[in-house]
Amino acid sequence: MTVRPLIAGNWKMNGLSQDLRTVQEIARAAPGTDASVRTIICPPFTLLREAVAAAADTALEIGAQDCHISRSGAHTGDVSAAMIKDAGASAVIVGHSERRSDHGETDSMVKAKATAALAENLTAIVCVGETAGQRQTGQAEAVVLRQLAGSLPDAATSTTVVIAYEPVWAIGTGLTATPDDVAAMHGALRQALNAQFGDDGGRFALLYGGSVKPDNAAELLRVANVNGALVGGASLKSQDFLAIVDAAC
Ligand code: PGA
Repeated sequence: MTVRPLIAGNWKMNGLSQDLRTVQEIARAAPGTDASVRTIICPPFTLLREAVAAAADTALEIGAQDCHISRSGAHTGDVSAAMIKDAGASAVIVGHSERRSDHGETDSMVKAKATAALAENLTAIVCVGETAGQRQTGQAEAVVLRQLAGSLPDAATSTTVVIAYEPVWAIGTGLTATPDDVAAMHGALRQALNAQFGDDGGRFALLYGGSVKPDNAAELLRVANVNGALVGGASLKSQDFLAIVDAAC
């Protein structure tokens, strides 16, 4: 079964108005709507609406990096999926390891956030990944599969949810999992999806994330059951992001 590859950029807490030109550069050069590769950039909330404008009339999609579980209400400083949708975005990352560690997000919170995203017709990019300690003690697969089971919304389908496997120790460190380790984890994730969703399990896009760069993208994207990448640091430069997109084409 072929899955349309997705290259998504996560800007994290980076990006001022001057950086909208990076969105424009990526949007202009990104593959078209009917091209084989889907592209998304997730800037901070402050740039969301302007990033949508910068990517207008191109196939580049804009996403957010988190959403609240509620649609509106007394939650100072939070942003809802409805607001993200209203800003013109089409996707949202939920359960990134930095949210899990900085904000104590649990699987059930991530599931509620992903459910809120689906209610607004946003693609939910659900992140899972083990720590270095968990890998060293042989728990990586169990941890990741438990996160998957606990974080996926009940209504998940391959057209509404994307899964990103990001080993915590590979994020922002320059370290990447070996192709063999990625193949093993993505194989385990695929098996779990097949068991839960039957035929549709084979259609979910499974992204790898953690220090994906232009010089290692091709090798990682060739791995079985890797259908794209979630890119942090390298998504801040249009040339680097576009080189990774090229590697997926
Ligand atoms: P990185 O971040 O590419 O900078 O390692 C990836 C991510 O956290 O999504």
